[in-house]
Amino acid sequence: MAERVLIFDTTMRDGEQSPGATMTADDKVEIARALDRLGVDIIEAGFPFSSPGDFEAVQRVARAVRRPIIAGLAHANAQAVDACCDAVRVAERPRCHVFLSSSDVHLLYQLKKGPEEILLQATEMVARAKKKVSDVEFSPMDATRTQRDYLVRVLSSVIAAGATTINVPDTVGYTTPDEFYDLIRYCFEHVSGIEKVTVSVHCHNDLGLAVPNSLAAIRAGARQVECTINGIGERAGNASLEEIVMTLRTRHDLYGVETGIDTTKLYPTSRLVSDITGLVVQPNKAIVGGNAFRHESGIHQDGIIKNPITYEIMDPVSVGRSDRELYLGKLSGRAAVRKRLSELGYNLSDEELGKFFAEFKRLADTKKQVTDQDLEALMGEERREERGRYRLENLQAVCGSDRVHRQASVTLVDRDGKRLHRVAQGNGPVAAVFAAISQAVGLKPEPELLDYTVKSITGTAEAQGDVTVQLRADGVVVNGRGVSTDIVEASAKAYINALNRLLEAPALTSV
Ligand code: KIV
Ligand code: ZN
Repeated sequence: MAERVLIFDTTMRDGEQSPGATMTADDKVEIARALDRLGVDIIEAGFPFSSPGDFEAVQRVARAVRRPIIAGLAHANAQAVDACCDAVRVAERPRCHVFLSSSDVHLLYQLKKGPEEILLQATEMVARAKKKVSDVEFSPMDATRTQRDYLVRVLSSVIAAGATTINVPDTVGYTTPDEFYDLIRYCFEHVSGIEKVTVSVHCHNDLGLAVPNSLAAIRAGARQVECTINGIGERAGNASLEEIVMTLRTRHDLYGVETGIDTTKLYPTSRLVSDITGLVVQPNKAIVGGNAFRHESGIHQDGIIKNPITYEIMDPVSVGRSDRELYLGKLSGRAAVRKRLSELGYNLSDEELGKFFAEFKRLADTKKQVTDQDLEALMGEERREERGRYRLENLQAVCGSDRVHRQASVTLVDRDGKRLHRVAQGNGPVAAVFAAISQAVGLKPEPELLDYTVKSITGTAEAQGDVTVQLRADGVVVNGRGVSTDIVEASAKAYINALNRLLEAPALTSV
C-alpha cells in the first residue's frame, strides 16, 4: 500500500493572517466541519493565546469536530503554551504546536537572543507542552534561512524533549525545490531521533514556489504538509491544499503517496472559505478558479468534445465541480432546490430549507435562471445575516446627475430587534449608503474604506452583483461581502457584514 502524507490544514490560523480574513468562532466551526468532510488529518484552529475570542474558537472547534487532530499554535513561552494546551485539551486528539525562530537574522534583529538561549527555550517549552498533551509539534521559524548545523541541534533537542512532529517552515518563501529537497534530506541524515517522528513542511508563496517546494519535500521523505484552502495565508499565502492534493493524485506515478482527502469536496470547501473570508479566488487559480476547466480556443473545444482527456488532466467532477450547467427557476420546487444544495455540499434541515426557499423564490422572480453560483451566494448571504449583529431591513437610495439628490436612507435591525434609522448624503448612492450605515451604527473612529469591488456573479444583465469591501478601524482590517440583484443593496450588505466583523474581531496578534 502507498505511504500516506498527512494533510495539516492551517486555513484558520495562517490563513486567518491574510488581511481582512478574520473569522468568528461560528465561522471557524463551519469551516472545521467542512475540513472534516474533506478528510484533512489535522486542523490548526487558531492561536489560543492571541485573544480570548480565538481561545474560545479553538475550543469550540475542538468540541465540534472529533475525527481530525485539532492543533493550536503557541509562541515558545509558558503562558502561550499553557493557553494552547488548555484550549485543545477538550479535543478527541489534541496537539500543541510550539514555534520559535532559529535563523540568525531573527535571533539578531528580532528576538535579540543568542543561539544557546533559544535552543534551551525551545526545548523547555516543548517539554512543558508535553506534560499537558502527548502530541507536540515544533517549528523552528525561518528554518530555510537557519544555519544547518544549528537547525539540526534544535530539532534533535526538541525531539529528545518529546516533540512528535518536527516542522520545517519556509517562513518567508525563500527556498527553491532543489534546495528544499536537499535540506529535508540533510535533516533525515543528521537529526537524531528523526526516525521516531513525523517530518512536516510549511511553505509560503512569496516566490510562487510554495506548492513545488512542498512537493519536493515529500519526495525527500516529509510525510506531513501544512497548507491552506485556496492558498490563503500571510503575505502571498501558504501552499494551496487543493494543488498539493491534486498533484499527488494526478501524478501518483511520480510521488507514489496517498492522502485521505475526498477530492470531490475540494471545490465546495474552496467556495465556503472564499465566502467566509471575503477573499475572492482568482479566475485562473488551479483546481478551484472559475477558468480552471474552461476551454476557450476552438482547437481545445474540438478536442474536449471528442475526448476530454485531450486537454483535461483531471475530471472536473473529481474535484467537486459540476459536469453540467443546471439551472433552477421560479417553477422549481423545494425538492429540486434541496437536491441541488445537497449536491453542492449543503444539507439543510426542513426549517433552514423553508427559510432558504423563500429567498430562492424572491431571487427567481427577478432572475430567470438561478445558477449554482447564485445558490451559493444566497447561502452565504443567509449565513452572514444570521451571524451578524446588524442586518439591513430597508434601503432607499437616490442617484442621478443632480448632485443634491444623491442620498440614502437605511434601516438596520440589531440582534435584539432594535431598529436604527439614518439618512445621509454622499457623492454617489453607494457613498451615501455607507455614510448612513456608519452613522446608524455609530462606530468611533469611523472605519476607513480600504477597498471596494463589484463583480457580477454570472455575467448577465440580470445577474446578482457580488460586492466586497475592506474596512480598517483601530488597526484591524476586515473584509465584508454582500450579494443582491441590486448593486447598491449588495454594497450596503457588504458594508454591514464588514462592520459586523469589526465589532466582533479580536485584535489579531501576528505571528
Ligand atoms: O510561517 C511560519 O513559519 C509559521 C510557523 C508558525 C509554522 O507559520
Ligand atoms: Zn506560516
